[in-house]
Amino acid sequence: MTADATASRPRIVLDCDPGLDDAIAILTAAHFGELVGITSVNGNVGIEHTTHNALVTAQIAGLDVPVHRGAARPLIAPTMDAARIHGATGLGDVALPELRRSVASEDAVAFLCDTARSVDDLHLVAVGPLTNVALALRHDPDLPRHLAGLTIMGGGAHAGNVTPVAEFNVWADPEAAAIVFSEAAPLTMVGLDVTHKVLLGGDEAARMRAAGTPAAVFAAGLLEFAYARCREFGLEAAPVHDATAIIAVTHPHLFRRSRHPVAVELHGEHTRGMTVTDVRPPAAFDDSSPPAHDVVWDADAATVIDLIVEAVVNC
Ligand code: RIB
Ligand code: CA
Repeated sequence: MTADATASRPRIVLDCDPGLDDAIAILTAAHFGELVGITSVNGNVGIEHTTHNALVTAQIAGLDVPVHRGAARPLIAPTMDAARIHGATGLGDVALPELRRSVASEDAVAFLCDTARSVDDLHLVAVGPLTNVALALRHDPDLPRHLAGLTIMGGGAHAGNVTPVAEFNVWADPEAAAIVFSEAAPLTMVGLDVTHKVLLGGDEAARMRAAGTPAAVFAAGLLEFAYARCREFGLEAAPVHDATAIIAVTHPHLFRRSRHPVAVELHGEHTRGMTVTDVRPPAAFDDSSPPAHDVVWDADAATVIDLIVEAVVNC
């Protein structure tokens, strides 16, 4: 019996920049959802690595899921990465098998738009910079109407990681995020407010490694690397941001959310990439307020952690 066997198995397309936690999100989505496709984007590391990492994660887990290559650069911002967190290749120091898979296409945007129109009840979950999603909105402005939901791992109402107020996925391509937040409302923002409360460490890595399957041992290595890096930064455990966003889709009742106008700051010297969240009472909102989105604040963290481990050991 799963930790919460009543949850649905939503159809998911995962847009990601693997990335340690992105790879765990792929396993989580495949276990608790119907993973229809994966699109890669430049982010934690370059597009060649993120695409390779999406393919090799699916290969290790034996997943029959297409991977479509996406944007190699942000829309306007300079290309930055998070290799100091995720390692030079994006998957830490985990030994990887020779890649025996190739991309289904080089056009993630076409895949996102075509699949949204052809697959009913599809959830788009974006856990990297929003470059592909912004380009998809430019290609098909009606995209949100064809989705059952758009959930992003990104932003934070009262938290930042790359800067005091900006989260990496939004900060890495703020122009793309601004397009998505202004043209795809209401989305669900699974930001640092909640992902900093879902922390995995040595115990969870040991549970994964003990399962002994290729996917579980792979994920254990990713988590062990992330945990070690977090300890270097003085953190007690590793936030698995992206897998938390998947659980917010597959097990929404485990999360507390409320609707607020959110705007992405583009010009502030100290605040570029900030998701400016209006938490004032609704009476304060007017026609000039930015579009409103579902901001996720808290979760039943213990259950979310158990579900992530359960997904990895059973994938
Ligand atoms: O800020 C956390 C986010 O940035 C996660 O998606 C992680 O994978 C990195 O992309
Ligand atoms: Ca990511």
